[in-house]
Amino acid sequence: MSPPLSRRRVLGAGVAAALALPAFGSRGQGGRDPFTLGVASGCPRPDGVVLWTRLAPEPLQGGGLGEAPVAVAWELADDEQFGRIVARGTAQATAGDAHSVHVELTGLEPARHYWYRFTALGARSPAGRTRTAPAAQAMAPVRFAFASCQQYEQGYYAAYRDMAAQPLDLVVHLGDYIYESSWGARFVRRHEGGIPTQLAEFRDRYALYKSDPDLQAAHAACPWLAVWDDHEVANDYTDDVSPRTADPAQFLAIRAAAYQAWYEHMPVPASMRPRGPHARIHGRWRFGQMLDLFMLDGRQYRSHHACLPGRSASPLVDCSDRLDPSRTFFGAAQEAWLEAQLAVAPARWTVLAQPTLLATADRGAGLQPAYWMDGWDGYPAARERLLGALAGRPGNALVIGGDVHAFWAADLRRAGQDAVVATEFVGGAITSEGPSAASVAAMLARNPHLRYGHADRRGYAMMALDRRGCDVEFRAVDDEKDRASAVRTLQRFAVADGAPGVHLGAS
Ligand SMILES: [Fe+2]
Repeated sequence: MSPPLSRRRVLGAGVAAALALPAFGSRGQGGRDPFTLGVASGCPRPDGVVLWTRLAPEPLQGGGLGEAPVAVAWELADDEQFGRIVARGTAQATAGDAHSVHVELTGLEPARHYWYRFTALGARSPAGRTRTAPAAQAMAPVRFAFASCQQYEQGYYAAYRDMAAQPLDLVVHLGDYIYESSWGARFVRRHEGGIPTQLAEFRDRYALYKSDPDLQAAHAACPWLAVWDDHEVANDYTDDVSPRTADPAQFLAIRAAAYQAWYEHMPVPASMRPRGPHARIHGRWRFGQMLDLFMLDGRQYRSHHACLPGRSASPLVDCSDRLDPSRTFFGAAQEAWLEAQLAVAPARWTVLAQPTLLATADRGAGLQPAYWMDGWDGYPAARERLLGALAGRPGNALVIGGDVHAFWAADLRRAGQDAVVATEFVGGAITSEGPSAASVAAMLARNPHLRYGHADRRGYAMMALDRRGCDVEFRAVDDEKDRASAVRTLQRFAVADGAPGVHLGAS
């Protein structure tokens, strides 16, 4: 860990930087811009953050840099004009990581904005702004956005343009950052290539998504934390089983390529680098005494689908297999880790960030219940264990999710009990098509603990936490097929400190 930066070092470096500023443009050697994918930061701690970029002058053709490593200089400043440089260094971008860099900074001050930029191959990147987490004992408000499901072909990223303009400490991404497949009723732009299975194909898919200027703006505005869902690899996969690839060994090779490409394109530390088809991306992120944020991996370790083994989980079904107590959503090791972490003295607010709707959702008709096996209803015993770990714990428990392409708010109770133990919000989809209004209405009617549901609009959610309570705002895009679309508040909610449960606010 680096020592704290002294004021003297800050000023000295700033003067040196002002004198040494070379004249860089975005065009580097050979007139090619290596920073086509923007910049990002993530994984904020009180004393550090990860800075990210990837050099890719030919972003949709493998990057365009060949096999040689490239030196990437980085600068961190405590002002937007880069007049006061507080740290600088050089990272090696190698072909093995698609010429991405993940700079793990330490020694920074808590709850502070910093600005960063990179230079390489004679070009300078756009600047990004980041923010460290509050100090361990601080009780400061925290405000973050959460998002998921950004199928590139189905819409533009007006939601990200809106998000980038919000005053946020953090963006939390809950998965489906890319889609491996093309689907949907109406496309506004197209994937290049088919369904990726090779590392080079996954890299090009990430590059296509990250070429979007509104997504780049949201990354450049504040630090992100991310977990994946299924479409980063293959629709409806569970552990080593994919409905699309019959042979588990063959699927694990695809998963290894997909995880490596995820790592190369996310602002995450080297500890999240995959080893073959395995990568530990779950973790606990503290924001002082206000927020304890658990980022959870709901794909890599989960039990295979019940009732529909080895097949797509799209049909709605029910069967007794789903009730098997040995079934697990997070896998035994992650579940044990989470339970142990939840037993440690909590912050005022605990947020479980995981891919999908946790609340029970009977989607049947008449007297016949029916469930979606890819959601938590395929893992009800694991859900009970999770809610049991949250019940009776001091502090407030919130669950956030994505995946289902709809906005939901829910009161979470243990089976057969009246007490609400946690409050859930699912933040819509950035672009991905949602279910019909009729199906949402039917779910609301059959599941009274689902307090709000809306699937007609795309968007994201914001959550603001303070001593008093939690405020949630669902932000909806008027028309995701329009790059310049307006984005407005769809619905507000509140959760009071010490009183779990959804309270609807003004729309
Ligand atoms: Fe999705």
